[in-house]
Amino acid sequence: MKPTRPFHQTPVIAIDGPTASGKGTVATLVAAQLGFHLLDSGALYRLAALASLRYEIAPDAADDLAALVGDLHITFREGCAQLDGVDVSNEIRAEEIGNRASAIAVHQAVRAALVARQRAFRKEPGLVADGRDMGTVIFPDAPLKVFLTASVEARAARRYKQLIQKGFSANMDDLLRDLRERDARDSNRAVAPLKPAADAKLLDTSALTIDQAVDQVVQWYQAQ
Ligand code: CDP
Repeated sequence: MKPTRPFHQTPVIAIDGPTASGKGTVATLVAAQLGFHLLDSGALYRLAALASLRYEIAPDAADDLAALVGDLHITFREGCAQLDGVDVSNEIRAEEIGNRASAIAVHQAVRAALVARQRAFRKEPGLVADGRDMGTVIFPDAPLKVFLTASVEARAARRYKQLIQKGFSANMDDLLRDLRERDARDSNRAVAPLKPAADAKLLDTSALTIDQAVDQVVQWYQAQ
């Protein structure tokens, strides 16, 4: 039988950062390179946001949202996110859903309802977890924590490209405004605000290619 490590020793690489900082892409490639599992925690908040629209629950109805989140029927399979058995991977990438996700993510009750689901992703041989509070709240014992940043202009340009590629319409001025608003809301909320963990390594990706950012994270991990 293969020896297994106790839960808390299964390695986690926590990658946090603001919207469109490249976390998702970097996390996916690092996980592939190391053969680790992947947690896109933002997708959970986006799925919750989509469900709240479908069930017509207002973004400020914290308790109803938390109950909804507790009951969500979600599956992740081969990079696809399913809600109630239907693939919604593309639908949850809309900016409207991202903004709604950010609005419902301010509630402590909603966040608490998602903790166990997120920790369940921690399995051998390891996990790369991408989000806002992976290093600070969900996996505070992660052996490697990375905080990815990039200038707001670089992030808006990336998000523009990503949305157009996915067939959504996009406008640069609206994107810049939304990004700034979302940064402010995510950073200033009382619960689990977006901020680097005290022991996080900072990586500014404004002038880096994706491969350079991935190499840096893998190098940090292997150097430990
Ligand atoms: O793709 P993008 O970086 O814009 O967002 P995302 O990672 O998909 O997350 C969408 C929203 O969910 C964020 O703006 C956050 O408000 C919220 N979120 C959070 O509060 N905590 C997380 N661990 C992940 C996402």
